[in-house]
Amino acid sequence: MNEKEEEKHQPNGTPEITQLIRQLAIGSSNSSVRHQFWSTQPVPSLEEQTTDAEEGPIEPDKDPEDIRKEPYPLLPQFEWTECDIENPKELEELYRLLNANYVEDDDAMFRFDYSAAFLYWALKPPGWRKDWHIGVRTGSSSRRLVAFISAIPSTICIKGKLLKMVEINFLCIHKKLRNKRLAPVLIKEITRRVNQAGIFQAVYTAGIVLPRPVARCRYYHRSLNPKKLIQVGFSRLGPRMTLSRTIRLYALPQDITMTGLEPLSPPYVSSARELLSQYLTRFRLYVSFSEEEFSHWFLPRENVIYCYILKNEQGVVTDLISFYELSSTVIQNDKYPKLRAAYSFYNVATTVSLESLMYNALILAKQQGFDVFNALDLMENETFFKALKFHPGDGFLHYYLYNWRCSTLSPAELGLVLL
Ligand SMILES: CC(C)(COP(=O)(O)OP(=O)(O)OC[C@H]1O[C@@H](n2cnc3c(N)ncnc32)[C@H](O)[C@@H]1OP(=O)(O)O)[C@@H](O)C(=O)NCCC(=O)NCCS
Repeated sequence: MNEKEEEKHQPNGTPEITQLIRQLAIGSSNSSVRHQFWSTQPVPSLEEQTTDAEEGPIEPDKDPEDIRKEPYPLLPQFEWTECDIENPKELEELYRLLNANYVEDDDAMFRFDYSAAFLYWALKPPGWRKDWHIGVRTGSSSRRLVAFISAIPSTICIKGKLLKMVEINFLCIHKKLRNKRLAPVLIKEITRRVNQAGIFQAVYTAGIVLPRPVARCRYYHRSLNPKKLIQVGFSRLGPRMTLSRTIRLYALPQDITMTGLEPLSPPYVSSARELLSQYLTRFRLYVSFSEEEFSHWFLPRENVIYCYILKNEQGVVTDLISFYELSSTVIQNDKYPKLRAAYSFYNVATTVSLESLMYNALILAKQQGFDVFNALDLMENETFFKALKFHPGDGFLHYYLYNWRCSTLSPAELGLVLL
């Protein structure tokens, strides 16, 4: 089957991702234990082909009396806990669990280092609930936090349908407790608690392929501090390039090139939200922010979230850029223990080009000491990658919907960034 024929069979799918998922499914078909857990969940299988006609919930909403009342059992040496992130000690405990055990790259050179201030922001949007910050502790006297999973409420629009969902994030199990099937218990427990609140759909992302991605995005990277990036092994010198030529290649002006670009402040929240909300409706999967949610996610917080706007003479916000701070620990590097990365969040350009807006985002990130600016190839990001010297990385991010069947989307159809 050539690519054109393939496309005909998947009118709304992306041929590339559909093909990739099928290859992975074929590769796995020999193993009878493949996806022992996920095959029991309301998610499409990797082999399945979805047409628009079948899109919607995989299983119906449960009646409250059909939702399990008690938490799922844990092995006797463990107990459930609700992490109280408003208590600085417990927030620090969560920070330490993730700092030592959360996502690493394939070569185990870098590990995400979400700061405590970031976690506080990420886990406490309007409508947050303490019982959705689920931890597992050892039952011994040390009562050590050894696993975590979280949900936050979110309103998501999928192909024109607005749904109350949760975003699942920060699933983490201590390295010493891996491969013991604890992750399925955490996932089932968060699902139970979310179901109890009358919510039956979720969105989440993962680097790995599970049944079944709704989209597959790629990370792109723009060097801001090429010397450090090369020294820590994040980037390599290009062929026929010297360090000084590389430094010159990525040099940026000291100051922004746009007049009027200013940090988002409370008086402009309403107008900025209006701008972003309008913009996001052009995508097939996007998040819908209430004004309260927009304030939470976009008002600048030092070392967490950065947001800048342009406004016209009437005070109407016309353009917006935002990025969040997520460092990584450089594993086994004493000289540079941390890599400071800015991650593109949501950007809208109406009076200037998106490219010039993002050029200024790079300058602002550089001014604030970031080493690299990362972005996924979603929304319109691909349009500025080449001109602004972003390069594709080896990391991919898969988007998933729980209990919602949907044909695959291309990255450019996504208007949703999860932290
Ligand atoms: C992800 C993590 C919690 C999985 O725990 P584990 O001990 O490796 O796996 P377990 O034995 O408990 O469970 C295995 C099941 O969990 C699933 N699983 C693994 N990673 C998963 C993920 N990121 N999201 C959802 N399910 C996942 C597996 O597919 C498997 O189910 P299957 O048999 O249906 O395929 C653990 O590896 C970890 O903490 N990794 C570092 C942090 C991380 O990557 N977090 C996820 C961010 S998306």
